[in-house]
Amino acid sequence: MNIIVTGGAGFIGSNFVYHMLNKYPDYRIICLDKLTYAGNLSTLEPVMSNPNFRFVKADICDKAAVDKLFEEEKPDIVVNFAAESHVDRSIENPQIFLETNIIGTSVLMDACRKYGIKRYHQVSTDEVYGDLPLDRPDLFFTENTPIHTSSPYSSSKAGADLLVLAYHRTYGLPVTISRCSNNYGPYHFPEKLIPLMIIRALHDESLPVYGDGLNVRDWLYVEDHCKAIDLIIHNGKVGEVYNVGGHNEMANIDIVKLILKELGKSEDLITYVTDRAGHDRRYAIDPTKIHNDLGWLPETKFADGIVKTIKWYLENESWWQPIISGEYMDYYQKMYGDK
Ligand code: NAD
Ligand code: TYD
Repeated sequence: MNIIVTGGAGFIGSNFVYHMLNKYPDYRIICLDKLTYAGNLSTLEPVMSNPNFRFVKADICDKAAVDKLFEEEKPDIVVNFAAESHVDRSIENPQIFLETNIIGTSVLMDACRKYGIKRYHQVSTDEVYGDLPLDRPDLFFTENTPIHTSSPYSSSKAGADLLVLAYHRTYGLPVTISRCSNNYGPYHFPEKLIPLMIIRALHDESLPVYGDGLNVRDWLYVEDHCKAIDLIIHNGKVGEVYNVGGHNEMANIDIVKLILKELGKSEDLITYVTDRAGHDRRYAIDPTKIHNDLGWLPETKFADGIVKTIKWYLENESWWQPIISGEYMDYYQKMYGDK
């Protein structure tokens, strides 16, 4: 089985590459990644010499490069993680989100049509459903919840989802979509809440909590997300959407306090800052469908996963230090230039 994993140098994509190489020693995994600021080649260093792995630096919007790779590799499956993924950046500059997240998805699917792949899987997000009120804990996102986005990021992901479903209906492309809640774990880029707070707390820097800190996210350990995608690409039904989440809702402020407690740091570091524009209040996934249809259940409890994650950041300063200093971008420029 040949699988193209786009965005495999990012947070979830790299965890997926590791999961697949470990679980399926006879599969060939080809990672296509543009190496934006969020892609980190050092994350994939241990598998670079694995004969079942190939890394290709390319943009999913670059039709010629995508076609060339499909021609060379004749993939059976494509799993699309490649995206601009940070809500705050999408508020600053929506354009690149539309290009990568929507145009890039269409370029990939056009190649899938041309080369007749067995499955195109789109890695989407619960953010396409908008948000839920804090005072209605009985409400959850199901696959039938209407798309109702808040940020340029979630709008671009929703646009991509609609396009994926349209390619299925119009061209018969064999697609599946997963919509997952917030992930956490190793290799999470330190602009996102959990790694940002861990690293800033380690440096005794202020921890910027947006608004009142009561916004709720539904956290899932990244390995559980990877296992869900593995199940969907092997056993999921073509044309279907699967919600992925572990019923683990936490207010941001409680996460921040937990991190401070684990690191033995003072809550005086917490600083309430201006709220994010359009800030979604609460996300909460109903994962009944993937549980009933594919037998998926999350395996890592948040209490264990967050301790494991903090320990990982403590032990892997060599991974995040160059990111913070910007050193790795200089390295890419030297190695790849404008290639
Ligand atoms: P990330 O920002 O850590 O990684 C994105 C990767 O995509 C990087 O390696 C980057 O270099 C690459 N990339 C960006 N633009 C590209 C382009 N034009 N061509 C090729 N590669 C490109 O993101 P992540 O957090 O790992 O998220 C991966 C996917 O999962 C995204 O599609 C995101 O929307 C989705 N998702 C993320 C979460 C989460 O909590 N992080 C939750 C649900 C869904
Ligand atoms: P984030 O990790 O950016 O994920 P998303 O916005 O996709 O859910 O943010 C998680 C939550 O943490 C979100 O409610 C915004 C909040 N947040 C802060 O309070 N401070 C920060 O510095 C960041 C990055 C996020």
